[in-house]
Amino acid sequence: LSPASPSARSFQLDYEHNCFRKDGAPFRYISGSIHYARVPRPAWRDRLLKMYLSGLSTVQVYVPWNYHETLPGVYDFTGNRDVEAFLDLTAELGLLVILRPGPYICAEWEMAGCRPAGVDAAASPCPASVPPAYLAAVDSWLHVLLPKIRPRLYQQGGNIISVQVENEYGSYYACDYGYLRHLLGSFRALLGSEVLLFTTDSAGAQELRCGTLQGLYATVDFGPGSNVTEAFGALRRVEPKGPLVNSEYYTGWLDYWGEAHASTSAAWVARGLEDMLQLGASINMYMFHGGTNFAYWSGADYKDQYKPVTTSYDYDAPLSEAGDPTEKLFAIRTVISKFQPLPVGPMPPATPKYAYGWVALRKYADLLDVLDVLCPSGPIQSQFPLTFEALKQAYGFMVYHTQLPWDVPDPATLGAPPHSICDRGYVMLQKEYQGTLERDGQTTLHVTGRGGDTLDILLENMGRISFGANTSDFKGLLGNLSLNSRPLSNWQIYPLAIDTAVQQGWPQAALPKSSSAGRVGPAFYTGTFETPGIAWDTFVKFPGWSKGLLWINGFNLGRYWSRRGPQQTLFVPGSVLHVGRPNNITVLELEEAPPSPLLLFLDQPLYNRTLGRSTMATE
Ligand SMILES: *[C@@H]1O[C@H](CO)[C@@H](O)[C@H](O)[C@H]1NC(C)=O
Ligand SMILES: *[C@@H]1O[C@H](CO)[C@@H](O)[C@H](O)[C@H]1NC(C)=O
Ligand SMILES: *[C@@H]1O[C@H](CO)[C@@H](O)[C@H](O)[C@H]1NC(C)=O
Ligand SMILES: *[C@@H]1O[C@H](CO)[C@@H](O)[C@H](O)[C@H]1NC(C)=O
Ligand SMILES: *[C@@H]1O[C@H](CO)[C@@H](O)[C@H](O)[C@H]1NC(C)=O
Repeated sequence: LSPASPSARSFQLDYEHNCFRKDGAPFRYISGSIHYARVPRPAWRDRLLKMYLSGLSTVQVYVPWNYHETLPGVYDFTGNRDVEAFLDLTAELGLLVILRPGPYICAEWEMAGCRPAGVDAAASPCPASVPPAYLAAVDSWLHVLLPKIRPRLYQQGGNIISVQVENEYGSYYACDYGYLRHLLGSFRALLGSEVLLFTTDSAGAQELRCGTLQGLYATVDFGPGSNVTEAFGALRRVEPKGPLVNSEYYTGWLDYWGEAHASTSAAWVARGLEDMLQLGASINMYMFHGGTNFAYWSGADYKDQYKPVTTSYDYDAPLSEAGDPTEKLFAIRTVISKFQPLPVGPMPPATPKYAYGWVALRKYADLLDVLDVLCPSGPIQSQFPLTFEALKQAYGFMVYHTQLPWDVPDPATLGAPPHSICDRGYVMLQKEYQGTLERDGQTTLHVTGRGGDTLDILLENMGRISFGANTSDFKGLLGNLSLNSRPLSNWQIYPLAIDTAVQQGWPQAALPKSSSAGRVGPAFYTGTFETPGIAWDTFVKFPGWSKGLLWINGFNLGRYWSRRGPQQTLFVPGSVLHVGRPNNITVLELEEAPPSPLLLFLDQPLYNRTLGRSTMATE
């Protein structure tokens, strides 16, 4: 690299002095991750301002492909998906940007973002292997996204200083340099020759060998538990010279349903940060603000078993899920102040939260009684079960309906092959809830009945795997459901458009269905509450409820699973609430509602309650 001309806008590597050069001057960044898709748009500016006031010069941003290309060739850059508006705000606040457009992003995001719903998953696993169909989908996406990015590059007068190619590709052991080379070519063709392109991998030798490529600057990621000398030593073996970069310094960690709430000490995070800054390294903190997996956007991991990620992505990050500064933020800010001046201006205090208190709901209807509303085009007939993917149902739920083929006077085993219930199946016989089958848990139930009795199984997609080799994570009934080992057939399959109905105001105005007496099994509950004066942020608890989803005013706030935990409350941003007219609540409870269906709105979150395995097994 030739020395940068100080007059031009430039952002380059300086191999001689082991640093970046910005406009010719030595530069290192202190950055934090924020995902616009996990933060309600009205809160973007607030979160970015607080990041700026923490002393960060830079923010690191993922672009989730499947959030924007919702179906092959169908793009959405509006509302919360307006990535350009988000980037405008970063520029307005004087922040630089490190962009991570994937195409695979992990991020504990549904399917790692790595292809639109509806692309043939079998033909296009990502990113472990790269058949032509996948590369074609990647290229057509990059041709839509990167032209929006190019004018925002630092060299073009914008604030994007670098762009990551792929993400932790070395963790897939595919070691397909041809794939990385293909991406490098596409990024260069669409972004030009000047922009700094880089890769990020964990500090293992194998990961760094397979994830790096000549022409892409290598960086590593590691948390406060790692030995800084060793981790940067590993980086030095692939990049003997140039700036030291930790692209993901873990300030906390994610939570899985059914596991303990994760937390990382502020002092420990601050100490590790100081050690790295002492070495002159550039650091991005992952996450600086985690936010929320609203609707169906949470991903899952696979380690011995399927592990879905909670709705909250608080991450124990310096800025909490609701965007409030924490003790960790101030510890980090103090460390930063030892290395560079902090911006002038006080950190805004925590925003007020409001405990709206108890809100009574009433049962509207059992789910099976409203299939005409949730699946207006009617069921698909199939002799054997079909997957969500086969029926182009991206997220949410489908009902599989059939009848018992013969009399079953004595308890018979209703079951599916292991790992074929993806991810949970709520079983109803003659519309009576019988129990739940799980992907890696209970896969059989005992039933009795008569030939012709109706059998329904509501399949729930809990989010596709975002890390590991199993990214072709098909959903629905992947195998035959059988009765005493004889496969059941003649299915009617209902893909459910629940969100479409709820967004249109259903079922608020409707009178409860007459048949809606019981409190067991999948059913809808509704209610309203008013906000006095100002629509403050709040957190809603589900006392005695089991598992389901919550919408307020048609906005899908995500999954609750009070029975399994650890998360006990859902974050409700004030921006979804209305002042001066009732706020409409819709709950889909999947297993069992409490005797009095009440919700409790609190002024603080509850993330930490884990039930033991024995309790889980009795669910
Ligand atoms: C980190 O690793 C280096 C090199 O292996 C070793 O000398 C040092 O003691 C380690 N530091 C800590 C805190 O374990
Ligand atoms: C969760 O709660 C338990 C007991 O209530 C406590 O021992 C534990 O430290 C808490 N964990 C976190 C991460 O807050
Ligand atoms: C993928 O998932 C299947 C079960 O669904 C499991 O048997 C297999 O071990 C997984 N593979 C990897 C590499 O995790
Ligand atoms: C379901 O059973 C039928 C009949 O035995 C068989 O042809 C079919 O392959 C099975 N489907 C799956 C997904 O196992
Ligand atoms: C709540 O539902 C009612 C009945 O459908 C509707 O008239 C009203 O506009 C809804 N309110 C909000 C805030 O969505």
